[in-house]
Amino acid sequence: MSSATIDLATARAEGVPAEIAVFSYYRNAEQHGANLLFRLLKHLDDPDAQIALSQHLADETRHAWLWTERIVRAGAKPLVVCDGYQVRMGRQAGMPRDVLDLLALTVVVEQRALRRYQQHLRRPNLDPDTEDVLRNVTKDEAWHIDWIRKLGRAMAEERGEAKRFDDAIARYRAVDREVVEHLEAAEQELSGGATVD
Ligand SMILES: [Fe+2]
Ligand SMILES: [Fe+2]
Repeated sequence: MSSATIDLATARAEGVPAEIAVFSYYRNAEQHGANLLFRLLKHLDDPDAQIALSQHLADETRHAWLWTERIVRAGAKPLVVCDGYQVRMGRQAGMPRDVLDLLALTVVVEQRALRRYQQHLRRPNLDPDTEDVLRNVTKDEAWHIDWIRKLGRAMAEERGEAKRFDDAIARYRAVDREVVEHLEAAEQELSGGATVD
């Protein structure tokens, strides 16, 4: 592992400030979210879906950039994250088999992003700069979840696979809970038992 490569559990020993590690994990999750959407681009023929997907993809790359800028404003550089949320999701849930799996996974990771950012916003002693970024990224997540879920449902019903779509969401949610439990425990360890404000 290079010195720029981190795992939350080892970051503390290397003296990485907890906030830089957390912002780097957010940045990494946004980039992987964009990658999921990029994969969806070639599966969707409907021109309206292509428009929404292009807007959505632009949002996720902008979110990654906003976290990058926040890290730079903190006087640091983004850490290369090899074991982030989405890599863990992929490892534990397996590769999506088709477009319905991709859509179900996107619903779950979008819901997680929204929940995580909302939790972070509720932390006491949140600095105004981080609060601004959190508000900026959070305002896009509701429509992201909404349109991807509707599209997934419609495509699943058309294919007579509504149950498989719902089952895929439930399966990804179960993996998501395990992954987040692990990441939150590592974050607590990194910040010495406290959360990052
Ligand atoms: Fe995002
Ligand atoms: Fe999103």
